[in-house]
Amino acid sequence: MRGEPSRETPLVAFRAVEKTYDGVVNVVERLDLEIERGEFLTLLGPSGSGKTTTLMMLAGFEAPTAGEILLNGRSLARTPPFRRNIGMVFQNYALFPHMTVGDNVAYPLRRRRFPRSEVDTRVRRALDMVRLGGLEQRFPGQLSGGQQQRVALARALVFEPDVVLMDEPLGALDKKLREDMQLEIRHLHQTLGMTVIYVTHDQAEALTMSDRIAVFSDGRIQQIGSPREVYERPVNAFVANFIGENNMLPGVIVTPAEPALSSEGAPQLCTVQLDDGPTVEALANGSRRVGERVAVSIRPERLELAHRPDRRNRIQGRLLEVIYFGDHARLRVRVGAIEVMVKARLDEWRHPECRGERVDLSWATDHGLVLEPAVDGGAAA
Ligand SMILES: Nc1ncnc2c1ncn2[C@@H]1O[C@H](COP(=O)(O)OP(=O)(O)OP(=O)(O)O)[C@@H](O)[C@H]1O
Ligand SMILES: [Mg+2]
Repeated sequence: MRGEPSRETPLVAFRAVEKTYDGVVNVVERLDLEIERGEFLTLLGPSGSGKTTTLMMLAGFEAPTAGEILLNGRSLARTPPFRRNIGMVFQNYALFPHMTVGDNVAYPLRRRRFPRSEVDTRVRRALDMVRLGGLEQRFPGQLSGGQQQRVALARALVFEPDVVLMDEPLGALDKKLREDMQLEIRHLHQTLGMTVIYVTHDQAEALTMSDRIAVFSDGRIQQIGSPREVYERPVNAFVANFIGENNMLPGVIVTPAEPALSSEGAPQLCTVQLDDGPTVEALANGSRRVGERVAVSIRPERLELAHRPDRRNRIQGRLLEVIYFGDHARLRVRVGAIEVMVKARLDEWRHPECRGERVDLSWATDHGLVLEPAVDGGAAA
C-alpha cells in the first residue's frame, strides 16, 4: 500500500458519476457509492442496468460523462487503466489462448515492469493460491472451465491490486462448479483481505458472497445494504421482487401508523385493507396516507399454513397446485384475484394434494412490508 490516506477515506468513491454512451440516455445516473477497504461488494441487477459500465469506469476503460471516481482519495480521471492497480476477472475468462498459464499470469507483472526474479516467484505463489501449482506450462485450451477461471483469478491477484473487479466471473460454469468457486473466492477474499467488487445477476450468489449488495435498476442503486437488509427489508417492490420470491397483496392504507411505534426512522406499523381479504398489519418505511394504494409484501417462506387464530394477519385461499421440491413443497394458492406462493416444509404439508381445498394462511406482523403497488414488471422509481 502506498501513501496511506486516513482510515476514513473510502478505498473507492464514486461521486455523482453519470455515464451516457449516446448523449441521450444515462445508463448510469448520478451514482454515489463508497467502498471500504477489505469489503466484498456485489452489484446485482437485471441485464442492462449499468453494472458492467460501472466497473469499466472504475477500471478506466470507459470515462464518466460527469462526476468523478476516487481511489484512495485520489481522482482517477487522468490515470490510465494499467496504472490503477485494479485487478479484473470476466465471465469469458479472457485468457490469452496462445500463451501458457504461467505467461498469462505473468502478463500483468510484465506490463507493470516487475523485475524478472519477482515475476517467477509471484506467478508460482498466485497459482498455488488457486490450487493450480504445476500447470504453468499448459495452454488455456488444455484446462477445464473451472481451471481457466482460476487462472483468470490468479492473473487478477498476482500484482496485489487494491481492488479486484469481477464481472459475472462464474457465469460460464455449471451449477456445482459455480458453487465451489463461490466458496473459493470467498475464502480468498477472507484470507487475503482484498477488496472485491463483484457483478452478478444471480441473487443467491449475491446473498451468499457479499458483505453488502447494491441493487441496480436502470442505472440507479435502488438499495444498498447487507444481504439480510436487502432480503428482509427491501425498500421497494423492485428490490423485493428481484431478490428472492415475493408475494404482493394489493390493498389500501386504513391506519397509517400506530403512534407508539413511530419513533424516528424506524418502520411503522400500518393497517391495510386488502382488496381480497381482511385488514392486516404490516410495517412501512416512511409515512403513508389514509386511502393510499399499496401492496403488502410477504416472502413465500414466511406464510404459515397452520390454522393460527391467535395471529392478527390471516387470509384464506384455495389451493391451485402443490409442487414438490424434495426439501420443501410450494403451494400455489388463489386468494381473490391474485395468486400467492407458499413455501412449506414437507412436515407442514402432509395432506395429499387436493385441488380447490381451502387453505388458511397467516404470518407474523413484522414479515409483512408495506410497499408501493406493483406496476407491470415493476421497476420502482
Ligand atoms: N459500449 C457501449 N456503447 C453503447 N451502449 C452501451 C455500451 N455498453 C453498454 N451500453 C448500454 O448501456 C446499458 C448498460 O449496459 P451494461 O453493460 O452496463 O449493463 P449490465 O448491467 O452490465 O448488463 P448485463 O447484466 O447484461 O451484463 C445498456 O443499455 C447497454 O446497451
Ligand atoms: Mg454486464
